[in-house]
Amino acid sequence: MNERTITIESNGSKKVYKTRSAHQTHLLAQKIFKELRGGDVLALSGDLGAGKTTFVQGLAKALGIAEQITSPTFVLMKIYALPKPINNITQLCHIDAYRLSSSAELAAIGAVEYIGDAHTLTAVEWPERVSKLIPKNAIVFTFHLFT
Ligand SMILES: Nc1ncnc2c1ncn2[C@@H]1O[C@H](COP(=O)(O)OP(=O)(O)OP(=O)(O)O)[C@@H](O)[C@H]1O
Ligand SMILES: [Mg+2]
Repeated sequence: MNERTITIESNGSKKVYKTRSAHQTHLLAQKIFKELRGGDVLALSGDLGAGKTTFVQGLAKALGIAEQITSPTFVLMKIYALPKPINNITQLCHIDAYRLSSSAELAAIGAVEYIGDAHTLTAVEWPERVSKLIPKNAIVFTFHLFT
């Protein structure tokens, strides 16, 4: 099944979207990236294969990043520079905390320098594993996969 429900919660508001293919999830990312600013932190929650990385791929494309965003299986954090700044964003920081068991482990690889930085858009998969490093004003995305 390709259907996904994606809930976005920010500042007390909640929006729910439904996508039926990876392509539609890319398009959703391209639509909502316009509302994002440098310093924003996206907490991307949801089961394995629910579409978190797919969403980040759509975001990267919208931001003009040519490099292919991969699921950082062994790389826990990857930084992608934008060809030109958009909404005060000069770089995308993609974190996959799946293999981490504490916030301290993420801090140890230098993530604090990026998370919430005024010119950085940060997207964190498996944010609940590193909850101490996720700011209270993070935009919370929840991906649901129906099987
Ligand atoms: N509506 C959809 N939205 C997103 N991905 C979809 C959709 N339908 C099918 N897919 C497929 O589901 C898979 C989602 O994988 P993805 O790596 O994005 O998940 P993930 O949430 O990042 O998982 P993980 O927790 O393992 O990192 C991809 O193979 C994608 O092509
Ligand atoms: Mg992923």
